[in-house]
Amino acid sequence: MSDWVNENCVSFFQLFCIKVVKTGRIPQHIAFIMDGNRRYAKKVSVKTSDGHSRGFDKLSETLKWCLDLGIPEVTVYAFSIENFKRSDDEVSALMDLARDKFKRLLDAMDQINDWGVRIHIAGRLSLLPPDLRKMVSKAMLATRHNNKLRLNIAYAYTGRDEISRAASHIIDGVNDNKLRTEDIDEDLISQTLDLGHPELLIRTSGEVRLSDFMLWQTSNTVLYFSDALWPEFTVWNLLVAIIHFQRYAPPQLPEKQNNISQEKFLRKLEEKRLQILENYIECST
Ligand code: FPP
Ligand code: MG
Repeated sequence: MSDWVNENCVSFFQLFCIKVVKTGRIPQHIAFIMDGNRRYAKKVSVKTSDGHSRGFDKLSETLKWCLDLGIPEVTVYAFSIENFKRSDDEVSALMDLARDKFKRLLDAMDQINDWGVRIHIAGRLSLLPPDLRKMVSKAMLATRHNNKLRLNIAYAYTGRDEISRAASHIIDGVNDNKLRTEDIDEDLISQTLDLGHPELLIRTSGEVRLSDFMLWQTSNTVLYFSDALWPEFTVWNLLVAIIHFQRYAPPQLPEKQNNISQEKFLRKLEEKRLQILENYIECST
């Protein structure tokens, strides 16, 4: 797990500052658009694949900072459906990086359980190579009872694709008589999506677009844009983003209660999703 959570990236002084910021409101879910890996690679004259690899190292530092800050949910945009259009070399380097990191994660499952990290992959998993799909399914099933930090990795993901998949699930629910049309409301759609709503979204590298990331969920999210390229993002950049959140965060709204058929539909959907993961693991191709 040391690959996924870098335990040695916080100095005593940084920890002190983290504790000071923690006396204010902390976002319960933070999302990152980790942008700028290729510009970073160019800047320091390394291969594009090394830029992505350093991007992963930055993710493992960020997870440690989030654990220290007591943030219970982190979502990262690691590979969009649009990214499949990049060169074959770059796509296969990104898939190989994911294979390597998930293999290490599965080999160090005791550590991830000690950390209490739950891994969730959000996206159209059917687009992934079967071996990688198998690994991520195993990681999701093996960590699903951990509850200290939920790490959602958006992979083969776009927000509009997520919304269209949720719509298909709801249509299936209506066709199977599990849902009535009057049960379909904003809250049901929110809960049918892969991802919950982040309170703070950070995009690095100076870009100020959402790039089809968590479109439904960001209706009331505080946005923060940092000029740092993702591999150069620091704990100071993160703390400034959290102070920005503390200044602009809207009041928290109470959650709405589901009715009985909505509850039943969501429970069945969860079972269906678990079954799909188990099928991916059993499937040999
Ligand atoms: C955006 O920078 C970054 C990506 C498309 C990939 C992000 C992936 C990682 C940080 C590794 C995550 C891996 C796992 C297994 C979770 P860019 O390539 O768009 O760079 P640019 O904006 O400078 O061109
Ligand atoms: Mg980019």
